[in-house]
Amino acid sequence: MLFSLNRQEETPSLWLMRQAGRYLPEYRKLREKQSNFMTFCFSPDLTTEATLQPLRRFSLDAAIVFSDILVIPEVLGQSVYFEPLKGPVLEPFSPKICETSSWNFEEELEKLSPVFQAVSLVRQELPSAKSLIGFAGGPWTLSTYMIEEGKSTSSPPFQRTLSFAAENPLKFEKLLSKLSHLIALFLKEKVKAGADVLQIFDTWAGVVPEDKREIFILNPLRRIVESVRESFPDIPFVYFAKGASAYYPSLLEKIPGISFSLDAGVDLLWARESLQKKTWVQGNLDPVLLVKGGREMEEQVAKILKALSKGPFVFNLGHGVLPQTPVDHVEKLVELVKGR
Ligand code: CP3
Repeated sequence: MLFSLNRQEETPSLWLMRQAGRYLPEYRKLREKQSNFMTFCFSPDLTTEATLQPLRRFSLDAAIVFSDILVIPEVLGQSVYFEPLKGPVLEPFSPKICETSSWNFEEELEKLSPVFQAVSLVRQELPSAKSLIGFAGGPWTLSTYMIEEGKSTSSPPFQRTLSFAAENPLKFEKLLSKLSHLIALFLKEKVKAGADVLQIFDTWAGVVPEDKREIFILNPLRRIVESVRESFPDIPFVYFAKGASAYYPSLLEKIPGISFSLDAGVDLLWARESLQKKTWVQGNLDPVLLVKGGREMEEQVAKILKALSKGPFVFNLGHGVLPQTPVDHVEKLVELVKGR
């Protein structure tokens, strides 16, 4: 099991962010069955299969239930579709979505039920020694996709979100609060269905100004973790924020016991001293090195293992597997880390 203190094995556990996806020919074939990506995400038979595909090929220690962070805006009524080469496009953002008439989110959770079905289907198929990771986007990152109506294209980026938050602070806080509340319920349902680790992807946390971190990042994250822990006190939480690791030590003080996924820019010795003495860390091979493979990748894998493998550590990438990654490089990586 990942993040288990009594793990006695000599090699670190290993899984890869975006380990299921387009770099796998069998995933591309499966995707042909459903051209609409959101519909794919809400089809438990397809997402179960996508989840298990990388585990059939590689000796990974965990499965991550196939889905997308954008299922949350979708069920809140802001439809999402994926344009080839452009990425996600969301329906126009309406500030009305910040209002909330009820806090039970019955309808939204009902719409999300195919995700929970996939979790239990995967759990049935997965050997019990393998962990099952459930995930959600961080409220800040989700709010950027909602307000920018897709990935930010402005320069500098995220101007719409930052301006909306500055001009409508109460509405923006309501939006974050609504997202946090729904995400907590969503994650609890995933644990009920069989997930044993939870990861929050806050990909765009790095653009939040220092004076707004407490409101945009810490408070929503704390609300989610505390709410899930009320029902499942021991569930491990991993937080991934690209370009915001400097904020991890103070997050850890305020949310004790949380673990961190490190992006490729994080200094390994800093991570060992400032984080690993107190909690688990996960990371941080640059996905570009996995595309390249060869000596450069091998040397970096050795460096990461040397710096972090003696403490509480899970090997991973610094961000998701890129679609152009050769499958045999992933095979080689697993062999380097696991020795088989
Ligand atoms: O094994 C896994 O980890 C796959 C499950 C997974 C997906 N998305 C599938 C996916 C996970 C954990 C995500 C998270 C996700 N989605 C994040 C956070 C992590 C990160 O990478 O920063 C974000 C920001 C998204 C939003 C999103 N989804 C974008 C920006 C895109 C388009 C860019 C891209 O990679 O294509 C997606 C689409 C998406 N999500 C695909 C997959 C496999 C590709 C869609 C396809 O099959 O055509």
